[in-house]
Amino acid sequence: MKVTFSVIKADVGSLAGHHRVHPKQIEVAQRELQAAKDSGLIVDYFVTNAGDDLQLIMTHRRGVNNSEIHTLAWNTFKRVTEEVSKPLKLYAAGQDLLSEAFSGNVRGLGPGVAEAEFEERPSEPIVVFMADKTEPGAWNLPLYRIFADPFNTAGLVIDPKIKEGFIFRVLDMVEDRFVDLKTPEESYDVLALLGTTSRYAVHSVWRRHDGEIAAVASTTRLNLIAGRYVGKDDPVMFVRAQAGFPAVGEILEPFSFPHLVAGWMRGSHVGPLTPVPLRQSQCTRFDGPPRVIGLGFQLANGALVGPSDLFDDVAFEYARAKAMEVADYMRRHGPFMPARLDPGEMEYTTLPEVLKALEGRFRPGSEIGEAPRRR
Ligand code: F6R
Ligand code: MG
Ligand code: MG
Repeated sequence: MKVTFSVIKADVGSLAGHHRVHPKQIEVAQRELQAAKDSGLIVDYFVTNAGDDLQLIMTHRRGVNNSEIHTLAWNTFKRVTEEVSKPLKLYAAGQDLLSEAFSGNVRGLGPGVAEAEFEERPSEPIVVFMADKTEPGAWNLPLYRIFADPFNTAGLVIDPKIKEGFIFRVLDMVEDRFVDLKTPEESYDVLALLGTTSRYAVHSVWRRHDGEIAAVASTTRLNLIAGRYVGKDDPVMFVRAQAGFPAVGEILEPFSFPHLVAGWMRGSHVGPLTPVPLRQSQCTRFDGPPRVIGLGFQLANGALVGPSDLFDDVAFEYARAKAMEVADYMRRHGPFMPARLDPGEMEYTTLPEVLKALEGRFRPGSEIGEAPRRR
């Protein structure tokens, strides 16, 4: 039987600045989703947080972009905002609910969405990744490694079902258009696009052997929706594992390298994506560093079995230590590029005002040989 796996998330306010979700927010979201489960709207759910982002992981039978499911998520975020974020005066209450004009689909209104419908296999392991203080392009490097790099994924070389390769559906987030590219033969083209993490992001990955969906990511860009800074579009994604898909260990392997991503303080800096256990899913130093959690589930007739907190393990201690060293090194640059993003990518900047104030004082290059005016 077909199951739909929906991860819908939003920052609707948080404890101690943009640090982490309040436990009461999780309780209210759980209450709402339990009622939806009791009424038969969804099969199962798990509520958690990635830093200051509230994460609704749901299974149901209604397909992707279903208005009842999206309404459930939207109303849940609204309730959490009204019942907890506002009364407790949590920081940036309701931040990601950008529009009052909700009409059955949360896409384009602020919350991030990753959804797929597929036939549940005899055993269906799924890994869900959720990050805070970064953007959808943060998944580009790990997704390339998981599905196209044989030095990461041994199955690309030795598993006949994976050997045929994958299709990367790559979204151009500026023009709102996408292109399907085949690996291995178009892998250089995939890399040419995915390297520009601010503009191109992987929407989904499909197995060429039989067209099965293998991974889905959220690809919202809040600042493009709102036309101004409204917080980072902290991304989520999930990946189906094993038996013809990459193994769980192959899916986790790229996160042993804490690669540099855009985000961190004021969405305007570059920092290492740090794999953390759930208990460390909170942002501290310089509002970060950017963090990712990884939860492993099994589906059992749509029910969510688990999760296992996959980065809560000695195998990722080295990555965390490396990330702290990189964080330290990057911070020594203060406001200098490339530790600080290019002005076009910064979420907010005073540069236009600084330039305006200095406008009358700029002089032509031909006068550069003259001594400075001392008054
Ligand atoms: C980044 C983020 C934080 C805030 C920062 C300033 O995505 O959420 O780093 O940008 O704490 O927040 P405000 O402007 O709300 O004081
Ligand atoms: Mg926030
Ligand atoms: Mg966040």
